[in-house]
Parts: sequence; C-alpha cells; structure tokens
Amino acid sequence: MPEADERKEKNFFPEITQKNRAFFLKGCNNFDWGTKNRLSKIFNPATEKTVMLAIDHGYFQGPTTGLERIDVTIVPLLQYSDTLMLTRGILRSIIPPTYPNGIVVRASGGPTVLKELSNEQIAMDIEDAIRLNAAAVAVQVFIGGEYETQSVHNMTKLVDMGQRYGIGVLGVTAVGKELVRDAKYMRLACRVCAELGATYVKTYYVEPDFDTVTASCPVPIVIAGGKKIPEPDALKMAYNAIQQGASGVDMGRNIFQAENPVAMIQAVRMVVHKNVKPQEAYEYYRGKIAQKNKG
Ligand code: 5RP
Repeated sequence: MPEADERKEKNFFPEITQKNRAFFLKGCNNFDWGTKNRLSKIFNPATEKTVMLAIDHGYFQGPTTGLERIDVTIVPLLQYSDTLMLTRGILRSIIPPTYPNGIVVRASGGPTVLKELSNEQIAMDIEDAIRLNAAAVAVQVFIGGEYETQSVHNMTKLVDMGQRYGIGVLGVTAVGKELVRDAKYMRLACRVCAELGATYVKTYYVEPDFDTVTASCPVPIVIAGGKKIPEPDALKMAYNAIQQGASGVDMGRNIFQAENPVAMIQAVRMVVHKNVKPQEAYEYYRGKIAQKNKG
C-alpha cells in the first residue's frame, strides 16, 4: 500500500491560470500529443526549423554517388542532422540505434531508374514504422505524372495508417522530367498533398515566387536540395527558401556529394537555424576545408 499523503499544506497555485499553448508548427496544432511529440523530433522547437539529411536515394537508384558506403561517409554526419530520411533497410543495417533524433522512413517504392518512376506503391506496413520508432513516413506524390492517382492514394492510405498511431506523413512532391518546375506547379502539388492529409510537405525551391508556395500550403514545407550544384549556390538556395517561409531542408546530394560533407552540413545548419547569410556560411565552409588541409 502506498503511504497516505499526510501533508496538510498543499499548493494549488489558484492565482496562476493554466495556459493553453499553441504547437509551434504551422497547421499542426490539431494533431494528437504523439504526433506533436514526433514532429518535435524532426523540427527543432527552439528554431522551428529542421535540417533533414536525405539518404534514401538508393531505393530507386542503388548505390548513389556519395552513398556507396553509408557506414563510412554518412555516419560521421549524423551528429549534425536533426532528422534522417532513409529506407528501413539502411536504418536496420547501418544506422546506430543510439541515433537520438527523428527518423523519417521511406514508405513508397517499386520501380527503379530502369522503369517508369511514378508507378510506386506503398512499400512498408505502419507496424514496421512503429517498430523502428519512426517520427514520420515519406511517400512520393507524382502530381501530373502517369500514375498520379495511384501515388496520391499511396499517400492517403499512409495518412490513414499514420493517423491511427500518431505517425506523421511527409508528402514528397516528385516532378517528372516532362513537367515544368515553377511556382504554379509547386503550389498545386504542395496544396494537394496538404489537403489530402500530409503532415508536412517536401518540394523543390523555385524562383520566382517561392513565397506563394509556402503561403498557400497550410502545413510546413521543407525543400529538397536536388542535383549537386556548387556549394555557394546550395547555401544560397537554402537561405532563400528559409527567408521565403520554408521550415527547413531535406537535403541529400548537396551535402553528401560536397567536397567536404561534414563542413557543408554545418554550413547548412547555420543558414537554416541561425539565419546566417549564405556568403558567411560559405566562408565558414571554406575555413573548415582550409583547416583540414593544414592539419
Ligand atoms: C527521392 C527523395 C530524396 O530524398 C530527395 O530528393 C533527396 O534529396 P536531394 O534532392 O537533396 O538529393 O525524396 O525522391
């Protein structure tokens, strides 16, 4: 039997009204506690932003340049990422289970680069996402693609599964080669993902008018890095996206294919979390490389 609480003086602080605090992420206030807790492992509550490290490219293109040996080249970057986006295969085989931050698991797949990419299906059960302690699952949505409806339904099914257990869904807007990547298309693709239940959306930074893409999407947007471009340009893109309303980056090749990936991810962090100007972040990056070359 627990001992009786015999203290006479209790303090109920009646003069202090309990506050209702809105959740820090746009459009996410009405989710349950579990979803919000998981989202707080993806987005840093202090800055409301995230640097997701995307290393899931192998699910359709095999050993991508920079990802040939994830144990050698990516594990040293983990400490600088807020979240990892990857496949369950790489998670189980290589990533140390002591990784403390959010995990976003790729949950769609099927075709490889050898086939029509938009013909994806759901590629994992929500139970496995729970077993892996995933903060969210990611699904490709091919708006305007040959298998548009199928990919949209992949997302809505994952949203239904995720809602049952408080696991978020990252809708990834995938642009086929034949489609124009402009703000008009991105507004459509991001809004469709959000309307149909994506917890947050990943898209590409476009100019001009990226601010209209973020403004018309009621949930947070993170940008993909896209193909490798020179480091100063990648930092500028991340900076511009953040200044125009993005809640972070989900960057892969522009980090792990950089001349110095460890320095690059730190420079990206400065831009995303501290609003450091891209030129200053690039000087930091060069400084790190110079230091390494000296040592
Ligand atoms: C694949 C993805 C990738 O994770 C994403 O595009 C990778 O990032 P990056 O473009 O920065 O290499 O969603 O479709």
